[in-house]
Amino acid sequence: MEKAAHGRAGGKVILLGEHAVVYGRPALATGIALGVDATLEVGQGPRLVSDEPDDDRGVRLVAEVARAVGLDPSRTIVRVRSALPAGRGLGSSAALCVAVLRAAAAAAKRALTVDDELALGRRFEAIFHGTPSGVDPAAAALGSCFRFVRGEPPDVTPVVPGRPIGLVVGFGERPRSTGSAVGGLRARWETDRARYEGLFDEIGAIVDDGIRAARAGDLAALGAAFDRNQAVLEALGVSSRDVEQLVACARAAGALGAKLTGGGAGGAAIAVGENPEALAAALRRRGVTTLIVDVARETQAA
Ligand code: PMV
Repeated sequence: MEKAAHGRAGGKVILLGEHAVVYGRPALATGIALGVDATLEVGQGPRLVSDEPDDDRGVRLVAEVARAVGLDPSRTIVRVRSALPAGRGLGSSAALCVAVLRAAAAAAKRALTVDDELALGRRFEAIFHGTPSGVDPAAAALGSCFRFVRGEPPDVTPVVPGRPIGLVVGFGERPRSTGSAVGGLRARWETDRARYEGLFDEIGAIVDDGIRAARAGDLAALGAAFDRNQAVLEALGVSSRDVEQLVACARAAGALGAKLTGGGAGGAAIAVGENPEALAAALRRRGVTTLIVDVARETQAA
């Protein structure tokens, strides 16, 4: 390889089904345009250069990706630039994994299929948290809106909304660790599997109701699914006061429904409303940082 090689992948928003998706229930997620750019060059490696503090996991990622595509890890450096805030439920780790993979594949002149990206993306994401469902790398690989059920290979079905869905993402004050939220839930599940499996089944049914609502363009029904999903996430113990304040704030500002998105804890909440700009402005007036994701447009752009 003489010249630097590039790769890019986007983040994601989980609309419905986080956490239960780790236990085989469906989730509804969409890829978003904000993402990670990776540039691979030859040098003393394996090394990942980013704005984040140096971390063993980045070194492991570069080494494993290089090996997977047939490059020499000791001669592989990857520089990354991310527009995704870390620890905010937007899938930054998975976008990093898929962007690095794409840069390495370009450097090795290897064409990867979507199935390769799904399988490898999930394997590399495990470097960052223990038992990922694979929904984040699927969003990074696909870039569009889809129903996802974990598996080898995962069951991925496109979902095209019946009308544009403007989602407002509101960010909490503190980033949080997906790994500890997922690990904590696993420990609770071990102590009372019947109860947690029942809650996961409830979420699975809510996800499929939400998908029907999205396909029908019924924002009120989708909002109701968000609210029901949030109640079960609270029962699972993966919510937090921070995120519940965001949800309450969105509902008070006129949202048709709101819930946490991603790992939970202090991360981020999403809300759906007829007028996302007005909803986002109301949240910003309360000091919340926001991002608007147009699901229909993201789907068409992918
Ligand atoms: O916090 P994020 O953006 O990494 O989302 C995690 C989603 C979970 O369902 C909690 C975990 C997973 O692997 O699906």
